[in-house]
Amino acid sequence: MSDQQPIDVFAAADLGDGDAKTIPAKVTGWSDAITVFRDGDDFYALDDTCPHEKASLGEGWLENGEIECPLHQSRFSLKTGVVTCLPATRNARTHRVEVVDGRVLLTPGLAPTDAA
Ligand code: FES
Repeated sequence: MSDQQPIDVFAAADLGDGDAKTIPAKVTGWSDAITVFRDGDDFYALDDTCPHEKASLGEGWLENGEIECPLHQSRFSLKTGVVTCLPATRNARTHRVEVVDGRVLLTPGLAPTDAA
């Protein structure tokens, strides 16, 4: 899906620091819902479904650049999706997210650049 065009998902100002918004798969066209997280002025996007047992990462806790799964507390890097705490052993899928003219643009399936 590398030829995918960015999707305008919401205004950057609508997502507070430490918050997350989950974009349904029917909107993204991706195989999973995608959650956009805000950490300070940076935005990140990961598959919403935890690669361990399918909890919603969008309902987790954001801390120190990581998202903690609400079910078994595995943690994933927001920037790379790399799992940093068991019990999950597989990384979370990341996606490109950028802020252009105050709008959050999500490109499912495209690797992230540096934080938006
Ligand atoms: S479902 Fe996420 S760590 Fe188990």
